[in-house]
Amino acid sequence: MRVGGRVVRELGTGVEADARVEVDGRIVRPAATRTYVVLHKPPGVMTTLRDPEGRRTVADVVRRAGVTARVLPVGRLDYDTSGVLLLTDDGEITNILTHPRFGVEKTYRATLRGRLEPAAVEKILRGVRLDEGRAAPALVRVVAVRRDVSLVDITIHEGRNRQVRRMFEVVEHPVLALVRLRFGPISLGELAPGAVRPVTERELAALHRIAAEAKDDADSRSESPG
Ligand code: URA
Repeated sequence: MRVGGRVVRELGTGVEADARVEVDGRIVRPAATRTYVVLHKPPGVMTTLRDPEGRRTVADVVRRAGVTARVLPVGRLDYDTSGVLLLTDDGEITNILTHPRFGVEKTYRATLRGRLEPAAVEKILRGVRLDEGRAAPALVRVVAVRRDVSLVDITIHEGRNRQVRRMFEVVEHPVLALVRLRFGPISLGELAPGAVRPVTERELAALHRIAAEAKDDADSRSESPG
């Protein structure tokens, strides 16, 4: 093996990321060095790296779970919301996945106060009016309705601040608890609160497909006249 033209015989020799490495005369490139992890964010944790008020952050949680790469959260969950949160050091994919135009689908399980009636579901399906403008229509699946609480799964592709909580406030069913079950191709599954897992090959391929489609879309917009 040659590193930067110099012959190296020691197994396990460390090399710089941008070094020219040759094996049997052929240049080899380092495997992708990006880190992508899925966290089950527990409630009571800030989706930031540092909190001036000293509250626990997702950076604390992933570090404690053994992640050493400097990963950043892709998007945000409220302090009280739990569920699936992707973190990565791949800035390009983060920009695409959080861009409002390429709205990735997200599914939340919401525990609501009160019995959710069909009229309220209908309003959410059509898109309720929020202060800054109408929310896009959402998909709603009623999971269970009990005497004073309802359990629903809601899928949205926008990412406005506290969007799900505000949508249900409009129909007078405040959210009592909110869990994100799915972020695009990534599902929460059986991951325990506070636990971290690497994204699977399949999830990663799907994320890259979304990114590639978004780029194609952006390119075609920039080419089309007007
Ligand atoms: N909608 C909310 O209201 N809160 C979240 O954390 C995510 C979506």
